[in-house]
Amino acid sequence: MDTKKLDKKWWKKEVGYQIYPRSFYDSNNDGIGDLNGITEKLDYLKNLGITLIWVCPIFKSPMDDNGYDISDYYDVNPEFGTKEDLERLISEAEKRGIKIILDLVINHTSDEHEWFLEALKNPESKYRNYYIFKRGKNGLPPTNWRSHFGGSVWEKVEGEVDENGNEMYYLHLFTKKQPDLNWENPEVRQELYKIVNYWLEKGIAGFRVDAINSIKKDKDYLDLPVDGADGLAHNIKYTLNQPGIEGFLTELAEKTFKKYNCMTVAETPLLEYERYSDFIGEGGFFSMIFDFSYSDLDMAKEGFYYSVQDVKVRELRNKIFESQLTQQKYGWGAPFLENHDLPRSLNKFFGEKANETNAKLLGNVFFFLRGTPFIYQGQEIGMDNFVRNDISEFDDIASKDQYQRALGEGFSPKEALYFVNKRSRDNSRTPMQWDEGKNAGFSEDENIKSWIKLTGRHTVTNVKNQLNDEDSIFAHYKNMIELRQNGKYSDCLIYGEFIPVLLKNDKIIAYIRKYENQNILCINNFSDKKQQVELSEIAKSISEKEIKLADILINNYKNIENDSEVLALEGYQSLLVEFQIL
Ligand code: GLC
Ligand code: CA
Repeated sequence: MDTKKLDKKWWKKEVGYQIYPRSFYDSNNDGIGDLNGITEKLDYLKNLGITLIWVCPIFKSPMDDNGYDISDYYDVNPEFGTKEDLERLISEAEKRGIKIILDLVINHTSDEHEWFLEALKNPESKYRNYYIFKRGKNGLPPTNWRSHFGGSVWEKVEGEVDENGNEMYYLHLFTKKQPDLNWENPEVRQELYKIVNYWLEKGIAGFRVDAINSIKKDKDYLDLPVDGADGLAHNIKYTLNQPGIEGFLTELAEKTFKKYNCMTVAETPLLEYERYSDFIGEGGFFSMIFDFSYSDLDMAKEGFYYSVQDVKVRELRNKIFESQLTQQKYGWGAPFLENHDLPRSLNKFFGEKANETNAKLLGNVFFFLRGTPFIYQGQEIGMDNFVRNDISEFDDIASKDQYQRALGEGFSPKEALYFVNKRSRDNSRTPMQWDEGKNAGFSEDENIKSWIKLTGRHTVTNVKNQLNDEDSIFAHYKNMIELRQNGKYSDCLIYGEFIPVLLKNDKIIAYIRKYENQNILCINNFSDKKQQVELSEIAKSISEKEIKLADILINNYKNIENDSEVLALEGYQSLLVEFQIL
């Protein structure tokens, strides 16, 4: 790679940390995490080494979908604090060299947003056209599409029946309290750009852009083949990544993001790789996007929790390689293992018996991929899933719906509960485990009950236990960040080329990062048994004959066993190691 051409945009050097504010730290003892809670923990994050925080939505909201239903984009939800608290967070973070990006939810608003209230109240008002209202047909809703959170995507508007007896409906791809905005209306788009620019002017570093590939809908509104016992159909064929969405995104980027030196990371599930050039290429709509191709391998069928399955290492490896090579070809990636919509990675990839060594291995695999890595709160201490015994213990709307759907499909309550435990979004939304106290140190006062039940494993897994233990998962993450950000391997680990290592042994995931005369191997044994790899097989992937392992940068074991020909990895051993070409 020609170094002179290396493009060192600022956001390539960041290490992201995602905060779900409701569950991070409660500074005022009401059982709900808040902005001041984040500010109080900035030193913890600084110590970990991250440089950028993505804060999930903190705007005014009835909290039907925990803030992804915004009723006022210009104000902060009182349970999180005030606008001043947000400004203080931004400036206190800045003092520590940490940038803040906010969550931009502009596919839909809350049904309590003033635009929607007006649209409902007055069919003649211009706000009707801010949303997608349609007349039903033959006594039925306009289409048979299922919402992502269950039931029809169409909600009936009371008292607007026409002369043929057909009702009026509005569209909501998510809950009925999240009506979709009508992006076809230029006035809506202008209003949204104003919001984006308002916050960029306030000094935030950019946005994570929510559900942005849903903003364009197929204009024909046709039915789809029914695919569930509820008589409805998964809607994405006509609502996700639709042709023509590029027009909206070009305009959005031009009127907002491109006027600032900001970064954007977009949520674009199932976006076809051929389209990456427009999205993340030179002059693309976004700085980077989250690729979900390998985060949903634990479901046989996208959108259906009850299709949970074990993840095959070979498939994981191939998906990671494909994703990395695509992102490298077109632009820049945003590797991640977890977020607030996914269960914990430890259990996803290693089941119920997951351990500390597994957590370090997973960290190593994802963190050194090419892109700006994002760590989800609690991942750095190896937080894991809970087991709930009754559906009433769940908070997330998606989980409640998925439970009902599983029953509808004929699964027993026990089976349905099993699926939801595995897949529920609540798994990653439990309070951050700060210490072993009654409520895991989540609220200042340990007698306060948190808004959502703890995992129950905070006596074992917590920040306090790990902070001063140099063998902890926390220490491992801290090392990884330090290596990537500082010192002699930094350029290689950030900008270096990604080269897949296609070993015959499919229990191992290995890749190389290469930059000038530096070569770094990341190699990870996903099996509990010892595995041997011939060094010549690794050398082959960079068209060389012989290599020699040198500096060991990361090792989740104390030792490494190799001679000049063979590297032997213990069960779940994971290494980052510099090597020389002989
Ligand atoms: C995104 C968010 C998710 C939310 C949905 C609707 O997928 O990550 O949490 O429920 O959009 O806004
Ligand atoms: Ca609080």
